[in-house]
Amino acid sequence: MTQPEGERPSDGQNEERSGRVVALIPAAGRGVRLGLERPKAFVELNGRTLLARSVAAVRASGVVDEVVLVVPPELVDVVRGEHPETTVVAGGAERSDSVRAGLAAAGDADLILVHDAARALTPPSSFTAVVEALRGGRDAVVPGLPVVDTLKRVDADGTVRDTPARGTLRAVQTPQGFAADVLRRAHAGAAEATDDAGLVEALGVPVQVIDGDALAFKITAPHDLRLAKLLLAGEEIG
Ligand code: CTP
Ligand code: MG
Repeated sequence: MTQPEGERPSDGQNEERSGRVVALIPAAGRGVRLGLERPKAFVELNGRTLLARSVAAVRASGVVDEVVLVVPPELVDVVRGEHPETTVVAGGAERSDSVRAGLAAAGDADLILVHDAARALTPPSSFTAVVEALRGGRDAVVPGLPVVDTLKRVDADGTVRDTPARGTLRAVQTPQGFAADVLRRAHAGAAEATDDAGLVEALGVPVQVIDGDALAFKITAPHDLRLAKLLLAGEEIG
């Protein structure tokens, strides 16, 4: 896969890299928008939790050496029992706090993937594609999809300010992949962002968007859970 020198894109690229891949799975959110009694990652979809589905997809990709699960503090012991082959740590109040807790447990990772447990139908190929781009020398890689709706920027009262050109926009997903040192630097402060790439961008490190997958949508509201069930119908007994 080594590219001739002249064909390598120059921005944000280092040498081809090998090394240990750790996947962090933030699963410590409460799932307020889903509105069920248990934390979202522990909600079942046809008999398997969102977290268990995410762990299975990571494993099935075959490109990850170690998995770190970040879960609500009260569930650490239970999850350790259910996933003995993973490292399990307690998350924090915000997603970024949970990612930082996972980073502290990621040991000697060279490459780190961060993947929302809530994106439970993400196919193994999404992990493979991100790791391939990192191995090719990118420091930060995120899957994204073209935006299909027209987006408006609005004032607090709902008045439209402008309409960003849709062709330049991408809806980004996880797994997001990073050179470990880059992600650690991005999280060194206490900054908050809705995704990890946002913190990496703030460092001035180029972030590469690759093709995402519609199945990597985030289960956020009740409608998303219903959609996930419909997508699974016919593919498995449940
Ligand atoms: N997450 C986390 N720690 C937090 C908040 C979120 O590990 N303090 C995780 C969630 O478990 C989820 C992912 O980050 O897998 C994406 O977050 P989101 O979809 O917002 O999940 P929740 O925060 O659980 O949902 P809500 O915002 O509706 O409460
Ligand atoms: Mg949340």
